[in-house]
Amino acid sequence: MKIEMPPSTMLNPVPVVMVSCAGKDPEKIAKRPNIITCAWAGTVNSEPPMVSVSIRKSRHSHELICETQEFVINLVSEDLAKACDYSGVRSGSKEDKFEKLDLHAAVAPKLIYAPMIEEAPVSLSCKLKDIIELGSHDMFLAEVVGVSVDEKLLNSNGKICLEKAHLVTYCHGDYFTIGKMLGFFGYSVASKEALKRRMPAKKAKKSNKKGNK
Ligand SMILES: Cc1cc2nc3c(=O)[nH]c(=O)nc-3n(C[C@H](O)[C@H](O)[C@H](O)COP(=O)(O)O)c2cc1C
Repeated sequence: MKIEMPPSTMLNPVPVVMVSCAGKDPEKIAKRPNIITCAWAGTVNSEPPMVSVSIRKSRHSHELICETQEFVINLVSEDLAKACDYSGVRSGSKEDKFEKLDLHAAVAPKLIYAPMIEEAPVSLSCKLKDIIELGSHDMFLAEVVGVSVDEKLLNSNGKICLEKAHLVTYCHGDYFTIGKMLGFFGYSVASKEALKRRMPAKKAKKSNKKGNK
């Protein structure tokens, strides 16, 4: 039996990302490069690739993104988890989060103002297309105009192996890393050959001393 609860944002798990941005004059303290953590983020279209992040008007980053119409979505690896949390509980209006967290702002491909986080495994350069006022949050709809991937995540064939990034997800107030691979797109109907090739090899069960199975 299920218990009925009041309506809420119970969709879980969700990605948690570090959104980097800056104003048009980054030399001014109020416009310096900044990072905001967002869990209300998602993919909303394939062609062209589009994403959304929902940000409250009260956030310092809201003003910066409105000013430049640009931002970068940085995926979060396990080693960035603490920095990700910190960026979500301190405002860039009061401190330089890049400096505080010892992170580096690098030029993001195809963008003029918003920097990417050098240490992030993957960074998506985004150009704003629309802002939809929803209530508590404004949804920033944007086109992904560039993707930057840490070269360490590429295999010898140039394939992106995201599992190597140990990405972080957010579930009901807690952070987790992605764990066991259960299957791949279409694995429920895949051929034996494809399953053998793409599924991780099952570990052999430990046999007991007598060698019984
Ligand atoms: C896990 C997590 C997820 C968050 N998700 C969002 C979000 O989706 N939208 C938002 O406006 N604030 C979100 N926040 C809060 C902001 O990240 C936080 O208020 C931050 O300090 C704003 O930074 P800024 O003032 O420098 O822009 C989140 C915080 C955490 C810790």
